[in-house]
Amino acid sequence: MKPDPLTFVLFGASGDLTSRKILPALARLADLGALPEPFVLVGVARTKWSDDEFRQQCREAAAAAVPEQQQETSLDDSEAPREAAGTSGSSGSWEALVPRFRYVTGDYDSDDTFGELESVLRDLDDESGTSGNRVFYLATIPSLFGEVAAGLGRHSLNKPGTGGSFARLVVEKPFGTDLDSSKALDASLHEVFDERSIYRIDHYMGKETVQNVLALRFANAIFEPIWNRRYVDQVQVTVAESIGVEHRGSFYEGAGALRDIVQNHVMQVLALTLMEPPSTVDPIAIRDEKVKLLRSIVAPDRSAVERDVVRAQYDRGTIDGVAVPAYREEEGVAPRSTTETFVAMRLSVENWRWAGVPVYVRTGKRLAKRTTEVAMLFQRAPHLPFQGQLTSELRPDALILRIQPDEGISLCFGAKVPGQSFRVRTVRMDFSYQEEFGGRPAEAYERLLLDAMLGDPTLFIRTDEVEQAWAILHPVQQAFSDDSLALAHYAAGTWGPASATVLLESSGHHWNNP
Ligand code: BG6
Repeated sequence: MKPDPLTFVLFGASGDLTSRKILPALARLADLGALPEPFVLVGVARTKWSDDEFRQQCREAAAAAVPEQQQETSLDDSEAPREAAGTSGSSGSWEALVPRFRYVTGDYDSDDTFGELESVLRDLDDESGTSGNRVFYLATIPSLFGEVAAGLGRHSLNKPGTGGSFARLVVEKPFGTDLDSSKALDASLHEVFDERSIYRIDHYMGKETVQNVLALRFANAIFEPIWNRRYVDQVQVTVAESIGVEHRGSFYEGAGALRDIVQNHVMQVLALTLMEPPSTVDPIAIRDEKVKLLRSIVAPDRSAVERDVVRAQYDRGTIDGVAVPAYREEEGVAPRSTTETFVAMRLSVENWRWAGVPVYVRTGKRLAKRTTEVAMLFQRAPHLPFQGQLTSELRPDALILRIQPDEGISLCFGAKVPGQSFRVRTVRMDFSYQEEFGGRPAEAYERLLLDAMLGDPTLFIRTDEVEQAWAILHPVQQAFSDDSLALAHYAAGTWGPASATVLLESSGHHWNNP
């Protein structure tokens, strides 16, 4: 299905997110023939560019996207991979679209900027047949979201143009920096756009493997009966990165791992993994179930933070044989910074399904390996009829949802080691996306941008989800900001500080390190 004709307006068009993610994703969609016809892109930013300079950026970003001849998993429902059309040649390709793109230079607090945008949009509707439909994408720094929305409102751009049926606002995370600021941000967005027209992006929801959590749980009969406190001993969610803060030191200083990853990506993955089955896969049902689950999560209160939360920062270390600097030595980072680059937490979910099952989450930069996974660790067999020594290599049964890289699912269980004795050890059965379906999964942004254009909000984050996620973390945020929880340190290239290991060992558990 193709979206209706529209103009895509990109605020922050000269920024990093635009060139790294948005333009390549749009270019791929063009080459897959998935963009609406007609489709026009309008960039808005403070950088003084001409239309032609912006068009050149668009071409360059597309050239940096996935190689042309690579086959891929298509975004439609057919399994057959399509030939990538390349960045030139096909009439629907990006290259053919670029000459129509426009650029507006200006400050976001200036009515001149929005006045010019208004007139560009009107002209485009007349010349290109974009029919008054608009998708506004905010790829600016978050502190400008409210200002841009207000500017759109003052110029009635929050409503479709003549003949159009929609004007949507797509907002990038972070949605605020805590509960109060997220409420304030929402209030300012809601003054201009109604909730149904706001699409909040958490790019993890665009990942195939995150969506596959729903397929695994609700398209199969064998997992759901054991997906509860009677069989599951503990749940672990790991979002580990081997990269550091790269060139984003000054942004990260004000964010830290809790805001950057836990509040959004970790909470979304947890919600899909632990929620109740929705009656249908529609935007209301799915998001209702996610919110219900988030409401059942009990975060450590202030008195429990010390016991259940680990906050840490990386020191110098070695990753893949290369020496890397400490966080405090990164560009844009204060030499005595106490910003956390690692968080581990024990949470509990107070509902019938999960009561008593510890949920461990951890995320960190400069860890040993890039990996995002959910590990469902099952209870031990009630009785092992083998002599103790024979099962010394038997670990708890586990179902590992490998979200990235090496996307797939692993089932770990005990098997008899061939030989005279009845030795049993853990073995692993793997399902690999790559082997099964071939190609590469669509980039998260391709899926999400297309959904925003189609008007499908299922994978976007509703305001109540955002607020609930902030509410869960509120006491933890307080303990971080007043330094009442000590900051641990870990060497880059390891799995985090010793205290993260101790957090689980106190309950006889261990992290599932890939
Ligand atoms: C972003 C964070 O939301 O997610 C980054 O701001 C992080 O700090 C990134 O590196 C991780 O995304 P992915 O898709 O590489 O796991």
